[in-house]
Amino acid sequence: MKDTEVDNMVKDWFAATSRHEWRRLKQDPYHQIEFIVTLHFLHKYLPEEGLILDAGGGPGRYTIELAKQGYDVVLLDLVPEMLKLAERKVKRAGLRRRVKQIVEGSIEDLSMFGDATFDAVLCLGSPLGHILNQARREKAARELVRVGRKNIPIFASVISRLGVLKTLLIRIQHEMRYAKHHLTVGDYIPGAHGEGFTAAHWFLPEELCDLFEAQGVEVLEMIGLEGLSSHFQKETNRLYKDEEKWRIWMEVLLETCTHPAVVGGSEHFLLVGRKIE
Ligand SMILES: C[S@@+](CC[C@H](N)C(=O)[O-])C[C@H]1O[C@@H](n2cnc3c(N)ncnc32)[C@H](O)[C@@H]1O
Repeated sequence: MKDTEVDNMVKDWFAATSRHEWRRLKQDPYHQIEFIVTLHFLHKYLPEEGLILDAGGGPGRYTIELAKQGYDVVLLDLVPEMLKLAERKVKRAGLRRRVKQIVEGSIEDLSMFGDATFDAVLCLGSPLGHILNQARREKAARELVRVGRKNIPIFASVISRLGVLKTLLIRIQHEMRYAKHHLTVGDYIPGAHGEGFTAAHWFLPEELCDLFEAQGVEVLEMIGLEGLSSHFQKETNRLYKDEEKWRIWMEVLLETCTHPAVVGGSEHFLLVGRKIE
């Protein structure tokens, strides 16, 4: 399949799912964990103030959260439907002054921003994973790093290749014949390798590290975003009903989510890096 066909497939998918994307991180306690754990590590590494790029920011969950905390934010996304929804949500939250731009563009070409413009760069929820070409992913990583100032934190989260294999076992066994393809190639084209999602690349943790290290980024931490809860959706949602048990589990989850045994097996994982060049 040609790159342009893949690109159009990705755009069409996200145009049709903007409302779902707004709900995704809040739909139930299990999915909230990705949001909570990501925010925990944002708080750990973000400077006290500054201008943040939320690249592939979708309908703006992270933009709105960070704007509420006093950061200036620029939200960039590929898909106009996402941007329209983000405009509405930002306005409704009364944050239009903090959100400096809501702008259409691809992470592959951030030429609208000068070098060293931002005090932190976010690329969360796998925008990088919807580029099915290694050279283009490298260009996107280069762009994300270029627009950040020296020493700033860079946050990139993606869908895990090993996590997808566990999903095959748990939820979509009828697609098991594609397991070896997922494992060795890591590229997913709907129709060719299953159904139910758009074109995507699944990452191994070391692959994401290599991608950013090659652009002059020091990897500070790798984090399994669903951590020990990963794939235990029903059990996690049940636990939420007991406030004390949930509190303990969240502490355990945050203490263990950087363990190498946890990172790659999570549905999503996050790289936190520092631009050193
Ligand atoms: C799963 S959503 C994540 C949204 C948000 N970052 C979050 O974590 O909640 C992925 C987003 O990446 C965007 N996207 C995909 N490819 C992109 C690209 N090449 N450049 C910019 N955004 C892209 C999609 O339009 C979508 O809004």
